[in-house]
Amino acid sequence: MTVLYDDIGELVTNDPTVGDGSPLGVITDAALLVDGDRIAWVGPKAAAPEADRRVTCGGTAVLPGFVDSHAHLVFAGDRSAEFAARMAGEPYDGGGIATTVAATREASADALTANLARLAGELRRGGVTTFETKSGYGLTTVDEQRSLQIANALTPETTYLGAHVVPLDFRHDRDAYVRLVAGDMLAACRDHARWIDVFCDRGAFDVDEARFILRAGIDVGLQPRLHAGQLGPGDGIRLAVALNAASVDHCTYATDADIEALAAGDTVATLLPGAEFSTRAPWPDARRFLDTGVTVALATDCNPGSSYTTSMGFCIAVAVRDMGFTPAEALWAATAGGARALRRDDVGVLAAGKRADFIRLDAPSYVHFAYRPGVPIVADVVIA
Ligand code: NIG
Ligand code: FE
Repeated sequence: MTVLYDDIGELVTNDPTVGDGSPLGVITDAALLVDGDRIAWVGPKAAAPEADRRVTCGGTAVLPGFVDSHAHLVFAGDRSAEFAARMAGEPYDGGGIATTVAATREASADALTANLARLAGELRRGGVTTFETKSGYGLTTVDEQRSLQIANALTPETTYLGAHVVPLDFRHDRDAYVRLVAGDMLAACRDHARWIDVFCDRGAFDVDEARFILRAGIDVGLQPRLHAGQLGPGDGIRLAVALNAASVDHCTYATDADIEALAAGDTVATLLPGAEFSTRAPWPDARRFLDTGVTVALATDCNPGSSYTTSMGFCIAVAVRDMGFTPAEALWAATAGGARALRRDDVGVLAAGKRADFIRLDAPSYVHFAYRPGVPIVADVVIA
């Protein structure tokens, strides 16, 4: 069955070989042909092929679905009081993670599944067609494994984050916890995850612990990604590049040496505007990354502590307003950039052979995500 989406005012393809030749590969007055779960053709509407069915887009914009490459969606509980305290001047140091760990261990699998499904629905309604999610609020072998099994039912992009923080029950023997994360816990989780991640930052894990844990994961076939540079500068970003991690995330305190290492390597820098917004942290200057040639992604970091948003549109608006992205760079980072951060070449681009994952806006241009902040402009979401 073929479907032609016709009369698209602005089609963003992320294929620089078509349309205006920019990285977004914008075709105006365009059409898009879907065959089954794949894109079959894109081009000017005047050249559109025949199809079994035709859907008119009435001159609106069509873009690749968002690829949210960083979220923490398997959890229970609420930390609105912690957020309110922060807005009254309390600093964020990750200490609240323990609150969510306690609530998550308490919760039934059904409750965790229902909360994940609720958040996945929010993501989808906001235009996200691929999302990653992590464990990291269980921090025991059975609770981490349970979180990943629950996540796996909704996305193939699952990440083992047993090394989120040292849990309270191990505070007097962190080495034992590091050995557990890289040993029995990893063995229980490896079949339920694609990725392994470590929170390598002040108050979490240092660079030697992170290297040890990530290497153990790599040895059993997981691929590395890393949280680093959120709470202060450190060696985590360069560790990610040295291990050829797919992505290093946050990078709020990236140094010039970090940015040079990123530009020379294959690791994407994933910036998380929701985290700076919700923790009142300084904005990373995206120009430093972009102008040095670093591949940059934008993601929600949705989690109950530091960034409780599922809205990529909101993240784009903040990235443009406060981090120095142009609207075009922010859109690319939220779509093709996210796909790179997950090492996926089947999503994030609208071209023949790619997955038919796209969104239609109730607006004439993708620029409206930043121009009309907070407005639900995603009208239709097509997933495969
Ligand atoms: O990405 N940085 C570590 N983890 C999360 C926050 C977790 C929490 O506060 O619950 C983050 O910001
Ligand atoms: Fe995170």
